[in-house]
Amino acid sequence: MHVRRYSLADRRGIIAHSSDCPDGERKKATMSKQKRKILVTSGLPYANGAIHLGHMLEYIQTDIWARFQRSQGHECYFAWADDAHGTPIMLRAEAEGVTPETLIARMNAEHQQDFIDFGLSYDNYSNTHDETNRECVETIYQRLNEGGYIDRRTISQFYDEEKGMFLPDRFIRGTCPRCKTEDQYGDSCEACGGTYSPTDLIDPRSAVSGTAPVMRDSEHFFVRLAGFEARLQNWMSSGKQQPGVVNKMQEWFEDGLRDWDISRDEPYFGFKIPGTDDKFFYVWVDAPIGYMSSFKELCERNNLDFDAWWKPDTDTEMYNFIGKDIVYFHTLFWPAMLMGAGYRTPTAVYAHGFLTVDGAKMSKSRGTFIMARTYLDHLNPDYLRYYYCARLGPGLADIDLSLDDFVARVNSDMVGKVINIASRCAGFIQRGSNGRLAAELPEPELYQRFIDQGEAIANDFEQRNYQAAIRRIMGLADEGNRYIDHHKPWQLNKQDDQQAKVQAICSQGINLFRVLITYLAPVVPFTAVKAAEFLGVAVDQWSDLDQPVLGVCINTFKPLMTRVDPVKIRAMVEASKQDLEISNVPATPVLDLADEITIDEFLKVDLRVAKIINAETVPEADKLLQLTLDIGGEIRNVFAGIKSAYDPADLVGRHIVMVANLKPRKMRFGLSEGMVLAAGSGAGGLFLLSPDAGATAGTRVT
Ligand code: MSP
Ligand code: ZN
Repeated sequence: MHVRRYSLADRRGIIAHSSDCPDGERKKATMSKQKRKILVTSGLPYANGAIHLGHMLEYIQTDIWARFQRSQGHECYFAWADDAHGTPIMLRAEAEGVTPETLIARMNAEHQQDFIDFGLSYDNYSNTHDETNRECVETIYQRLNEGGYIDRRTISQFYDEEKGMFLPDRFIRGTCPRCKTEDQYGDSCEACGGTYSPTDLIDPRSAVSGTAPVMRDSEHFFVRLAGFEARLQNWMSSGKQQPGVVNKMQEWFEDGLRDWDISRDEPYFGFKIPGTDDKFFYVWVDAPIGYMSSFKELCERNNLDFDAWWKPDTDTEMYNFIGKDIVYFHTLFWPAMLMGAGYRTPTAVYAHGFLTVDGAKMSKSRGTFIMARTYLDHLNPDYLRYYYCARLGPGLADIDLSLDDFVARVNSDMVGKVINIASRCAGFIQRGSNGRLAAELPEPELYQRFIDQGEAIANDFEQRNYQAAIRRIMGLADEGNRYIDHHKPWQLNKQDDQQAKVQAICSQGINLFRVLITYLAPVVPFTAVKAAEFLGVAVDQWSDLDQPVLGVCINTFKPLMTRVDPVKIRAMVEASKQDLEISNVPATPVLDLADEITIDEFLKVDLRVAKIINAETVPEADKLLQLTLDIGGEIRNVFAGIKSAYDPADLVGRHIVMVANLKPRKMRFGLSEGMVLAAGSGAGGLFLLSPDAGATAGTRVT
């Protein structure tokens, strides 16, 4: 009997088959098993904001790669964390009135729920504020110090005297020194794209208190990066780095490596530098070390040998997936720290481009700044995983999520091509053959062609050329559909004597589907799980495809993926517009809380429900309305600065809240006998406060 070889695995060096044994029996021999040990990481999201679809581009890219490596039989871990430190997180916690620890714990839980619901198969998710990370950071710092790589010197920086803190560049605003646009960040101008130092800003202001900052001296710690130049050059030239990354590094080498400032003064949410009372590690020191400590936690839990993975001459591999905005940190600072501390360096840093939506930067007002959770509330995570995969290439080019294309692509490729093969065949097997597949494939050569593509597809995934992998897989799906079109099982099925043929054709189809969904399993894990239930076999190891599934029963077919409904896309965009009205994270939280008061002081303020019985404009004043208020038996005259937001006619009859015991104030137009309460100041809207329906004029408010 002729023995067919369907083997994909043997050509990948995992298993060798011998098909020319005299007795025709196939022997499996384990060759030099090239089982790789791989650690992958993603850029750690900051713990002061929600996960959005830009983050998800990276996390899905990483997850597909990790799942792909496991599907090849390799040992692959995905470990990462929340980036918990730094000034924005400290200020955000303060603005919310919680400790940073409370904030980061809540964020960690929210982030992980998003990740799980998107099917990310990570092995550990930590927090850079954890003790394991502190230990790793201190070890690395100590070794850098002993190696003579740390310098100290005094520098002068902007300081907010009211808030009592040094100001990071992003927390200083002022007029751009080049194009004179007002209200720009301390490091770069959004209008002209210029970069500069905060001291160049015209009329600088603290974004924290609004006051003018002063210059103040402080001692800082620096890593002498130049001491690593030769080794960094070597690392860059290993042949494993992305060409786009190498180009960037070459530019930086040409400019010369500057010392890296690794300390920050208190108040700062971070790890204290050992041997100091008031200096903290800059967040970018402990953030990448979070990759290491997260993996270390995994080692402790799973009994892995941490040292074997992190020694300089290790045969394990590590890949850091990141966005193009943080390449500098990952290709200079991060490897330099590892070199100085005697650890292995990343095998490669894999950078990707930024997400745009419908051809433009994500926009809050257009509803294209989409949070992971908002997406999940409306759509299947596998749709996005598939779409990103179909768009991702190996380089640093930006990736566009075009919402129309998203619908078209997912519906035509996944539903119309891949799933279609299974749904066209399943019913005939169920009804005609009691669910049992034929004992042989009618066209083994076609099956073999599908297997033969596996190596090229695997190579595309390995190179992160996901779009190329998808093109090949969809080419095969077209071939599978043509096969069924050609044999028309639905016609043969009408003839009683053709049942065996129908079974054979559909068994061929089901087996082709199985190959496709196995290739796609790293991309669409939720769909793959359902497919495995339908097929009755696992679809997570490509080497299993050596053997077609024959002579066994499959399970009832349920729709594995339904078409994307464009109505849901529109709902998601609408919800995204609303999301941002309610929330979200001001980039630079402005904190201007009043001084504390006691409850007794608060109770001195006599707040009353008042009914507006008349409202009129004041001809001499463009901001004021004159209100006549009833506070339950007493009538008050109040001038209120709410003209920009309210038409007087709309106000009459409305109940509001007023300060009833404010000392009357004589104004040009008359006496103002109180003050009405409103939220906001005009610029971002003005909103009168009202009690719920039912409250009556004169009721005290506490
Ligand atoms: N906390 C740092 C990373 C520290 S890694 C040791 C950070 N955080 S982030 O939340 O701003 O971004 C996390 C990752 O998501 C980064 O790799 C970043 O490039 C990526 N992305 C954030 N927004 C993105 C898009 N709009 N598009 C694609 N990737 C994006 O940077
Ligand atoms: Zn400018």
